[in-house]
Amino acid sequence: MSFDEIIDRRGTHCVKWDMMDTLYGVSPDTGLAMWVADMDFRPPNCVQEAVRGMLDHGIYGYFGDDSAYKGAIQWWMDNRHGWTVDPDWIFTTHGLVNGTAMCLDAFTKEGDGVVLFTPVYHAFAKVIRASNRDLRELQMPIEDGTYRLDFEAFDAQMTGNEKMLVFCSPHNPGGRVWTREELEGVAEFARRHDLIVVSDEIHHDLVMPGQSHIPMARIEGLDDRLVMMTAATKTFNIAGAHVGNVIIPDPDLRARFGARMMALGMSPNSFGLHMVTAAYSPEGAAWVDELMTYIAANAEVFDAGIAAIPGVTSMPLQSTYLSWVDFSGTGMSREEFTARVEKEAGIAANHGPTFGKGGETWMRFNLAAPRSVIEDAAGRLQSAFADLQ
Ligand SMILES: Cc1ncc(COP(=O)(O)O)c(C=O)c1O
Repeated sequence: MSFDEIIDRRGTHCVKWDMMDTLYGVSPDTGLAMWVADMDFRPPNCVQEAVRGMLDHGIYGYFGDDSAYKGAIQWWMDNRHGWTVDPDWIFTTHGLVNGTAMCLDAFTKEGDGVVLFTPVYHAFAKVIRASNRDLRELQMPIEDGTYRLDFEAFDAQMTGNEKMLVFCSPHNPGGRVWTREELEGVAEFARRHDLIVVSDEIHHDLVMPGQSHIPMARIEGLDDRLVMMTAATKTFNIAGAHVGNVIIPDPDLRARFGARMMALGMSPNSFGLHMVTAAYSPEGAAWVDELMTYIAANAEVFDAGIAAIPGVTSMPLQSTYLSWVDFSGTGMSREEFTARVEKEAGIAANHGPTFGKGGETWMRFNLAAPRSVIEDAAGRLQSAFADLQ
């Protein structure tokens, strides 16, 4: 597998390249797509072979017997995350945005408060608002250049109407791998305010060499209020398969979730199940290790480029392939630094305010691309802000 290969994705209905002009005014002919979180890499051969097997057989009927699929999830969580999952705890949703929406539907009602520690992955707020729940954004402070969880400050902002916390671990967009102490703090916070915790761990495999992610399920005392959400889609770049795991250890919460799945007639897509079953394997695991070594080197190249621009800083990346970059030190308005990124550098990157309170002066850059693209991006940004040097 060569992550250096440039694969032209334009004209394939991929949102990242084919929508960048419409959404950011950056032409795919001359610009770089560094926004939405999918990678410009092919998945490992085991996944390609699974799809090829379906194609060769040529019949795309309903899927039956998900024991191998659930067994693969069980194997992965056990081997990669030290977490023993009972296959009966696993629901398959249409991805994790859908998983979040399903949790809102199953465990809260209109008007209930739902807490986010912001800035955070933007689709959480989108589904909370669209479900007519009360979005409660608690902004995380930055200390030593990275996000912290300030539970005293969070406590002071609680109204008593909150029923759920949607927590992002590892954190998108800040790239934090939360420590055991921080996760225990989240558990205490949830108990103190009687919240269900929906722990979105979609980035759990994408941790930098030397970092170690702890699943929330391994934190004591949360079992009766915990929903775990994981997926193979970010890890293996198969987001279009729209398949996610919602894993619920508590029997009561599980019954309530299962009832909503049933009421909405939800059942999974066979392509996703075949791909995930193939991905969660020793071959898939070896590929992820190589991937993260490559992304760590990309992050070094990108960070060095950013560090050379006075007033611009990137948050240290402990996980994910998403670099969170602060332009506040330039003294420029948001319009001006965004215009420089888009019009002068020709880069489509996510706008910080989309991620909620605290994102105002930031932009998010996707580093899951061949090294030459990252070098190009770093050079383009330096030129676009050359007058600051
Ligand atoms: C934290 C988080 N959750 C969920 C998603 C999307 O999940 P899905 O494609 O399974 O709906 C993303 C995508 O970037 C994400 O960063």
